[in-house]
Amino acid sequence: VAIVIGVVAGGVVYAWQSARVDTAGQVRFDRRLAIPPLAASTIAPDGTREFDLELRSGTTDLGHGPGTETWGVNGSYLGPTVRAERGEPVRMNVRNGLDEASTLHWHGMHLPAAMDGGPHQMVDPGTTWSPQWTVDQPAATLWYHPHLHGATAEHVYRGVAGMFLVDDPAGPVLPDRYGIDDVPVIVQDKKFDGDRLDDGAAMFSDTGVLGDEVLVNGTPGPYLDVTTERVRLRLLNASNARVYRFGFDTGLGFELIGTDGGLLPKPVEMTSLQLSPGERAEIVVAVPAGTSPVLRSTPPDLGADFWGTRFAGGADTMDILQLRAADRLESNAVVPSALAAPADLGVPSVTREFDLTSSTQINGKSMDMGRIDEVVTIGTTEVWEVRNVSGGVHNFHVHDVQFQVLDTDDPALTGPKDTVYLPPGRTLRLLMRFTDFSDPSTPYMFHCHLLRHEDNGLMGQFVVVEPGQRPVPPPPPSDAA
Ligand code: C2O
Ligand code: CU
Repeated sequence: VAIVIGVVAGGVVYAWQSARVDTAGQVRFDRRLAIPPLAASTIAPDGTREFDLELRSGTTDLGHGPGTETWGVNGSYLGPTVRAERGEPVRMNVRNGLDEASTLHWHGMHLPAAMDGGPHQMVDPGTTWSPQWTVDQPAATLWYHPHLHGATAEHVYRGVAGMFLVDDPAGPVLPDRYGIDDVPVIVQDKKFDGDRLDDGAAMFSDTGVLGDEVLVNGTPGPYLDVTTERVRLRLLNASNARVYRFGFDTGLGFELIGTDGGLLPKPVEMTSLQLSPGERAEIVVAVPAGTSPVLRSTPPDLGADFWGTRFAGGADTMDILQLRAADRLESNAVVPSALAAPADLGVPSVTREFDLTSSTQINGKSMDMGRIDEVVTIGTTEVWEVRNVSGGVHNFHVHDVQFQVLDTDDPALTGPKDTVYLPPGRTLRLLMRFTDFSDPSTPYMFHCHLLRHEDNGLMGQFVVVEPGQRPVPPPPPSDAA
């Protein structure tokens, strides 16, 4: 096991046992992959599909004994998969059964800001928050997680997160039997101290927790029994800081069919795919009958310096999930050659610049909940030019919209995106269109999705208003905790 000596600000030297490097042969793959249950829902008299989600604490066996203290939604670790159809009105009854205030944010969802579940929509312990909106976007793999200011990293790390799938009956036919040939793959690295989840594990870096083990859907050492010729994996990097480069140990290729916000125009064949925290991808894999390839992460291409690379897991190879294909596979849907027409985002009339100036500041400012940083007029198409001038490892996430990354030929960036890796020194131009009204004092967020960076201030706020309307600084957050 490699030992790396890290130097933190102040000159203190720590010996750091690095993440398990080249774990081939070390992960035993002896537990069946848990599939998060589908969230139950009811239809209210007005036709609204209603879900009850409760944040809870409990204990979970994450491979270090049954007593690991964790948090979850409607359970002790992670939450159920929420599913709704495009066009459907939904209401989420979010009850906070924890001892401290939190929020639940619908990452990737196009919805009014007051329903977004960001830092301004705190849910006090013992209370219920019931946002509602109409799902109005293409089929996609979205997710939900807490988003309170200053403690998002901790709340997500403890286990509050789940998938939110948007279905579109008008979409192409794809493998869609949940848990059989359409499988959620929620990837999170963890560090343990005995049977305790160690969230102080990264005291030597400002990047946040970097674990040396990977859980999928909360299962350590997981395997999935594959029974069909093709299996669709919905990959979600729900880790705090780690960037993965997914591929198979056998070199098996796969088809990328979707990114954060939905399907690509057409499938793209690849053998490896990089996802930074918050990003999703849908891939379809044809596992040869009788074989057991391992989904593995190899060192991602971060474009960062030595320490930046180490602190985002850039030097590590980690085995993640074994796919065990039966000797005879049932035939199922073949991926069509045309998937979804790209969204027409229109012609941009506004350009904004965002410099990630440090691991705590955008355009030289740290997050202030009482300050509106950007005012967007509803209906406009804009280009956001995002630049990583800090030299550290960051990505960039914008609430409410799915953007198109301009000037790129990277096939993994050709679909709708809401989060994108931003290499040091690089500028990315993101094309987006704002159609949701926020109200002048209820902002949406943009931020780095390395959760410690977000908590430390690498976040800003924007409102979407009618032409000529002025922003109103939001009221100070209620001191709920
Ligand atoms: Cu997934 Cu603003 O977050
Ligand atoms: Cu960052």
